[in-house]
Amino acid sequence: MKFFIDTANVKEIKEASEFGIVDGVTTNPSLIARENKKSDALLKEITSLVRGPVSAEVIGLDAESMVKEARSLAKISDNIVIKLPLVKDALKAVSILSAEGIKTNVTLCFSAAQALLAAKVGADYVSPFIGRIDDTGSCGMDLIADIKKIYSNYGFKTRIIVASVRNPLHVVDAAKLGADIATIPFSVIEQLVRHPLTDIGIKKFLEDHKKIPK
Ligand code: G3P
Repeated sequence: MKFFIDTANVKEIKEASEFGIVDGVTTNPSLIARENKKSDALLKEITSLVRGPVSAEVIGLDAESMVKEARSLAKISDNIVIKLPLVKDALKAVSILSAEGIKTNVTLCFSAAQALLAAKVGADYVSPFIGRIDDTGSCGMDLIADIKKIYSNYGFKTRIIVASVRNPLHVVDAAKLGADIATIPFSVIEQLVRHPLTDIGIKKFLEDHKKIPK
């Protein structure tokens, strides 16, 4: 299972990369806006820190502007993946971009039907937003199970990025289902490593260590 970090914050990317678990980065306009830096320069910096895929999102909503923006973003670095929101024009844009060898990540996916379409047009990645589905009272992880089943029925190569991850259980459930990738906020990466029994265990071992005759 690959871990992407869901952030545009350079400090977080550097720190998580030091743990040796960052296989890629996903950004979106909301994450980039938090950084108060020019978008292209920030993306350039991120691509220089991480060898794996770095998703950068287009703003245009018609195929022509999506393709134009995608071509320009793709010039930033060869590990840029173009994120496009799952609307009709994005499907058209994905077909054009795949033919040009530009990698795509179809985002804001909230249904199995949408994920099926993303795979049909040859998207490299699809990003179902499970936390936002949970927020509506439905089960986001059920969508991951459905997409997994559909993709395996037909051997679709589109990789599933479990997105809108809010807690460690999301990551574990995604792994149980065999999702290809989880894109995880830095705070959740930190939560993944922590367990109170580990801390209690360390404390006890250190106390006992002091009792060993020198
Ligand atoms: O990867 C998508 C993510 O950035 C959205 O997360 O928590 O805003 O739903 P959230």
